[in-house]
This record gives sequence, C-alpha cells and structure tokens, in this order.
Amino acid sequence: MAIPALGDQIELLVRARYPVLYVVSWEEARVEQHLQAIAARRNKQLHVWSITEGIREASTVEGQAPGKKRAVTDPIEALEVVIQHKEAAIYLFNDLNAFLRPEIACNRPIIRKVREVARALADSYKTLVICSPLMEMAPELQKDVTVVDFSLPTPAQIDSLLDRIIKDVAQHASIRVDLHTKGREALVRAAGGLTLQEAENVFAKTLVNDGTLNGEDVSTVFAEKQQIIRKSGLLEYYEASDALDDVGGLDQLKEWLKRRAMAFTDEAQKFGLPAPKGVLLVGVQGCGKSLCAKAVSREWNMPLLRFDMGRMFASLVGSSEQNIRRAIAVAESIAPAILWIDEIDKAFAGSSGSAGADGGTTARVMSTFLTWLSEKSKPVFVLATANDISHLPPELLRKGRLDEIFFVDLPNQEERRRIFEIHIAKRKRDAGVIDTEHLAAAAPGFSGAEIEQAVISALYDAFYLGRDLTSDDILRNITQTVPLSRTMSERIEGLRGWADGRARLASTRTVEAEPTRSGGRKLEIG
Ligand SMILES: Nc1ncnc2c1ncn2[C@@H]1O[C@H](COP(=O)(O)OP(=O)(O)O)[C@@H](O)[C@H]1O
Ligand SMILES: [Mg+2]
Repeated sequence: MAIPALGDQIELLVRARYPVLYVVSWEEARVEQHLQAIAARRNKQLHVWSITEGIREASTVEGQAPGKKRAVTDPIEALEVVIQHKEAAIYLFNDLNAFLRPEIACNRPIIRKVREVARALADSYKTLVICSPLMEMAPELQKDVTVVDFSLPTPAQIDSLLDRIIKDVAQHASIRVDLHTKGREALVRAAGGLTLQEAENVFAKTLVNDGTLNGEDVSTVFAEKQQIIRKSGLLEYYEASDALDDVGGLDQLKEWLKRRAMAFTDEAQKFGLPAPKGVLLVGVQGCGKSLCAKAVSREWNMPLLRFDMGRMFASLVGSSEQNIRRAIAVAESIAPAILWIDEIDKAFAGSSGSAGADGGTTARVMSTFLTWLSEKSKPVFVLATANDISHLPPELLRKGRLDEIFFVDLPNQEERRRIFEIHIAKRKRDAGVIDTEHLAAAAPGFSGAEIEQAVISALYDAFYLGRDLTSDDILRNITQTVPLSRTMSERIEGLRGWADGRARLASTRTVEAEPTRSGGRKLEIG
C-alpha cells in the first residue's frame, strides 16, 4: 500500500522527546500494543490511564498483579503522577480529550495541567500520549501537543490476525478452515480498510455463519465491509443507473472516458499502458459533472465509491486524516474501482489562506491525498468534480497528479436539443413528437439540470390538465424560468477565463454567444 505507515511516526517523536502526543484513532487496543512495543524497544515502562480505571501498570508487564498499585482516576492527580515519576516511561491517557474541551469551564485546571506536563516532560525521558477517535483540544494547547494519526492495519497485521483466529478455532471440530495461499490473500485484501477489531468481527461472523473459513468467504467479507463503510457515513457505494449515452453533449469528455475504459484490462497492462489516475471535472453547476461520474461507472463496469469530503471535515466522524486514509484503503481493497470525490472544492471552501485555521487538518488531509495520488499503484480511478475553482489547491492542478482536467460549460443549442431528447425519452415520451429543435433554441443559457426541470414541470402541467405532454407545455416552463447562468454570468465568465489554457474543453462546440440580456422582459405565456 502506498500509504505511509504513520504508526512509526510515534516512535520517532518519542525518540525526539516530544513531550505530548495526541494519537487520533478508534483502535485504542492497537495503539496500546504499539506503544508497548515502542516502550520495550526504548527500555521504558508503559502506564495507561482512563477515567474509569485510573493509571495502572500496563497489562503486559508479566508477573505483576494488576491493581496492586493505587489507581488514580482524577485527571489532574494522574497528570501529577506523570510529572512526579522518575523513570523513563510512556503514559497513555485514553480519552483525556474529554477534559480538554475549552467550552467547559471546569476543564480549565486540566488544560492548565497538560501545559505543565508539557513543560515538565520537555527535558525528561517521559512522553504523554493522548488517544481518542476524536480530535478536540483547547487552542492554547496547540503548540504543546503534537497530533499524530495512527495508520490502519497493514495486510501483514490482518494476516497475523487471521493466523490467531485460525489457531483459536483449531480445537473446534465443527469449524473447518480451508485456506490455501490464494484464498488467504483474497480474504486479507477484502478486509483492507477495516480496523483490526472490525476485521476480527467480520472474520468471526463469517465463521459462525457457515462453520467454515475459505476463499469463498470473500464475498461475505465484502458485504460486511459495505455495511461498516456505510455506517461510517463517509463512503457510499453508488449503484449507477445512467449510461454515458444518457449524457447529452460533452463529446470530448465522453470520448476520453470511453478510451480509458480499456486501460484497466490485462491486455492494456501487457501493452504497457499505466492505469489511468483520474480526472477533475470543473464547471458550471448542473451541467452533468456528477452525472458523468455515475455514467462512467456503468460504462467501465467498475464499482463507484462516493466520498463525502464535506462530511469528513464536519469532524463528527473522527479524524479527517484517518478517514481519507480509510477511504483510500477501501477503494484499493476493491480495486479496480472509481473513487468519486464530488464537489471537492467544498472541502477547501473554509480553509483558504491560513493553514492554522483548522489546526492544519485540511492541509494534512490534502497532502495525504496528493501523496497517494502521485504514488498509487492500484487501479483506483479518481473522479473529482468542482463547481468553484477559487479554493482548489494548486498542487491538485499540477500536471501529473491527474490525467486531465476538463471544463464543463453550459450546453450549446445542439447539446440542449440532445438533453431535451434524453429527458423526454427518460419519461417514456416520444421525443419525435416534441419539437426539441425549437425548445433548444428557446432555452439559451439553460443547464442540463434546468432542462430536466422544465420537462418535469411540463409533465406535471399536462397531468393536471388531463392530457399528454406537448411541446408547448415545455416551452411555457422554459419561458417561466430564469436560468442560473443569467444571474451568475460573471461567475461563469470567471470560470471560463480560468479554464482557458488550464483545462480541456469537455465539448467540441463552443457555447453560442448569449442573446443580449437587454432582450428585455419575459412574458408569461398561458
Ligand atoms: N449533459 C447532460 N445530459 C443529460 N442530463 C443532464 C446533463 N447535465 C445535467 N443533466 C441533468 O441534471 C441533473 C443534475 O446534473 P449534475 O450532473 O448533478 O450537475 P453537476 O454538473 O452540478 O454535477 C442530472 O442528474 C441530469 O438529470
Ligand atoms: Mg454535482
């Protein structure tokens, strides 16, 4: 996997004597194991604190009965223990972040105490490690605390988990494990993107299901994984129903996509073609960017994973950085696949300029993503869309990151005609009976979405009047609509200016000049 193993970063920071680390992870147990290993290597003790158990000796210290020492639960007292201890040690404080939220007044003394710990530990062989799935702390701690993300389990770790499970069930006569190398590899790959605990649960469920564990369980593991991924709310499997032929216009883009379809085959690889990296579709809202993402999945017959950037930054779902790494790992585990990042511009909308505004989260997420983009070896095709270019990071636009940037403009008259045709046919009406030529001419500046809306509203009208759809119904709805392009003409001009020289046009034909706006007052017909 091309994702950097950030787990090792912790050891580096411990050795460099960073006093306070903050590890963002759901995997408390794995973090503890990892720290235990570091402690052993560095000849240190590991002490663990939680609000319920207090500070205790790590459970892996052999021959020592747990609970022999007094358990100190109070966070301030426990932090004082950290300061007082003389030996070289690592202190793991689970969920201490609950006491570091600045908005709760009684947290003040604890926040203060952490700053004192940071000072006291600066020239000691002790490290305080805070672990939580959430990233939250008072702003005044930002300079004292170093945030680290904990990477997902590697294939090797999942493999040894599988080993352990197989050993555990060996004495059960009713359970058959039948795993040769290939089936085993497939299972490990299928569990990619899960935490160790999730992977264990999934394997256990598969075992209990039918009493066996073999290569055929890959599909069960995938199904379980879909559920877990859906629950996380960040990645969504998209069932695509639209085909590329359902997209009107955009001939250049469609042609490009059709050509790239073949690049994922074995023959293409033998021929020496690299797997396509991805495209960015930039352009006017409602003109078919998201539609193309869905259509390409069907055209290429590859699963489509929609990644919700906006939600990721809403921070309620844990660490942004771990989340993007997880999305990447999931996509790689089911590759060949399409990773669809819709409205990627939204993610950066609030973060322009000052990298410090969000504690550098956006910057770190972006660099994780870009590093992966330039190093990725698995056939995961990235399809990103954006309506606005003002906040897009320049690194994303640099040549070589993606294969191509396409500019999606408003449809011209012939394209509008085709879009009318598509949407009329979609509603099971005969596009031959409707004068699409005339409608297209009457709708300059309309986006595909607005054309679709006009057809739908016309259908409502016809149904209300108790007869079938006519051209006039649609025409009436067109004249009643002020297309967005009219109110946003400046923004669209800005987009066009930006795209000129930077992006390839998604459509050969240019949009005809808009009829002069002074053309005047719109009459409501009917
Ligand atoms: N070129 C087009 N051909 C056919 N339908 C289109 C086209 N552009 C937009 N539409 C219709 O409008 C809807 C919204 O467009 P969408 O792809 O979401 O726009 P955006 O470019 O903002 O992502 C689509 O689902 C589709 O029904
Ligand atoms: Mg869209």
